[in-house]
Amino acid sequence: DDPAQLAAFQARIDADEKIEPKDWMPEGYRKTLIRQIGQHAHSEIVGQLPEGNWITRAPTLERKAILLAKVQDEAGHGLYLYCAAETLGVSRDELTEMLLDGRMKYSSIFNYPTLTWADMGAVGWLVDGAAIMNQVPLQRTSYGPYARAMVRICKEESFHQRQGYAVMMKMAQGTPAQKRMAQDALNRMWYPSLMMFGPSDKDSVHSAQSMAWKIKMNTNDELRQKFVDQTVPQAEYLGLTVPDENLRWNEERGHYDFSEPDWSEFFDVIQGNGPCNVDRLEARNKAWDDNAWVREGLLAHGRKKQQAKVA
Ligand code: 3HC
Repeated sequence: DDPAQLAAFQARIDADEKIEPKDWMPEGYRKTLIRQIGQHAHSEIVGQLPEGNWITRAPTLERKAILLAKVQDEAGHGLYLYCAAETLGVSRDELTEMLLDGRMKYSSIFNYPTLTWADMGAVGWLVDGAAIMNQVPLQRTSYGPYARAMVRICKEESFHQRQGYAVMMKMAQGTPAQKRMAQDALNRMWYPSLMMFGPSDKDSVHSAQSMAWKIKMNTNDELRQKFVDQTVPQAEYLGLTVPDENLRWNEERGHYDFSEPDWSEFFDVIQGNGPCNVDRLEARNKAWDDNAWVREGLLAHGRKKQQAKVA
């Protein structure tokens, strides 16, 4: 890239101008956005699976309707994000193929199973809570279509987080067995939720460049700390215990001290070896293959209409 062009681009970023699809951008900026927005879109789509698992088994009709709406929202988020990625010159089909054959990642969290109804509460409270912590700052990200998609997504995510907390509240204030289920869900989801923010800053290969380009607004560790600070009082309010013996308020820092997740587990999961990686990719591949007839039908219809126009 021409140094003068690069400097002019960086000056626009530094002045908080939005970069739009037809503007000049460095190839690395485009590639990083495709990677991050694509991975984010895939997370929304794969993220439907752990919750979809409980739609038919929700305890009441009301809970079922709420969960169904939530899972549909995730599909919608995936679609806005694929549209934002398409403005960078990659097609939705290409992105989908890269998800299906494992060339692109999706969030590590969705490779964990949802074993009980209380997990629907913990996913909403912790997973959507972590997602919002990461996504609210992304409303100010430098790429216009991504920033705008994030505005609506964040509004819906905060609804999701509240419904998760409401489920947890019901369980935590329920029978002793229900409270135990809520505690068990928190025990299993806590560290995987901390991992959603990505590796610790010293191992985050992309953070420095992504922050200079304002593709990311905060480091992984900054957001993880904010999440812990926000979530610990919420756990206390529920009367549940965060599964971390080292968790304590640090008056001097004005933050909670906490244990890091097991990073070897994180790297294992993102390399495809988590408890549900194989299931998740099989489910997405099956959906793609089973619905090939819809795509073929639409293309045949399109061709027929085109021919009718020519004739
Ligand atoms: N899961 C899977 N992979 C992860 C990860 C995670 N939790 N955290 C990091 N990684 C990967 C990165 O993709 C990168 O791998 P790559 O080079 O092969 O792409 C590698 O680990 C190194 O990490 P870095 O910190 O250098 O990577 P990033 O700068 O991209 O930071 C991120 C990672 C913070 C997740 C950032 O990409 C980001 O902010 N993404 C946008 C938000 C997003 O994707 N959220 C998904 C959450 S779930 C969700 O939205 C669904 C909701 O409905 C609950």
